Amino acid sequence: MSHADDVFIKNFLAILGALVLFTILAFILARSVGFGAMEQMQGNPQAVAERIQPVGAVRTGKPGDEPVPLETQAAAVAPAGVPAAAEQTGEQIYNTTCMACHTTGVAGAPKLDEKDVWAARVAQGLDLLVQNAVNGKNAMPAKGGNPSLSDDDIKRAVEYMLTQAGVSAP
Ligand code: HEC
Repeated sequence: MSHADDVFIKNFLAILGALVLFTILAFILARSVGFGAMEQMQGNPQAVAERIQPVGAVRTGKPGDEPVPLETQAAAVAPAGVPAAAEQTGEQIYNTTCMACHTTGVAGAPKLDEKDVWAARVAQGLDLLVQNAVNGKNAMPAKGGNPSLSDDDIKRAVEYMLTQAGVSAP
C-alpha cells in the first residue's frame, strides 16, 4: 500500500467518525427538545382531538345562545333524500316562456290586456284552455315551446295569465 493510500484511508475514517458522532448528538438533542411529547400525545385521544379541532364553528340562533354542537349542526343540514326542485310560480313561467308572444301578441297570441278575448276563450272551460296550451294550438307551440315544463306548470301559467287579464275561470 502506498503512502498516498494510507493518508486517504486515515482522512476517510476521520470524516466517517465525525459524521457518526454528529448523528448521535443530533438524535440526543432531538429527544431532549421533544420531552417525550410524541409519546404523551399518542396515548391521549383527548389531546389529539383538541389539537386537530376545526378553528371555527357555525353559530346559528340568537346572539348569546350557546353554540350548537357540531353533531347537531351536521344532522340539521343533512339532506333528506333528493331535494325537490323548487317549483316555479305561474308568474315565473309566464315571464320566462310565455311572455315573448303573449305580451306583444305575436302571430295572433292573445295579449294579457285583451280581457274580452280571454273571456271568450275561457268560456270553453279552463281545462280545455290548459290542454290547448299543453298540446299546442295553431301558432301556439306545445307548452310554449318549453318541453321541460310539466302540465301543472302550464296550468299555473295559464291561471296567472287569466288573473292578469282580469278574467276568472268559470
Ligand atoms: C311562439 C309564441 C307563443 C308562446 C311562446 C306561447 N304562446 Fe300561447 N298562444 C300563442 C298563439 C299564437 C295563440 C293563439 C292560438 C290560436 O287560438 O290560434 C296562443 C294561445 C294561447 C292560449 C289560448 C288557448 C285557447 O284554447 O284558446 C293559452 C291558454 C296560451 N296560449 C297559453 C300559453 C302559455 C301558458 C305559454 C307559456 C308556457 C304560452 N302560451 C306561450 C303563441 C304563443
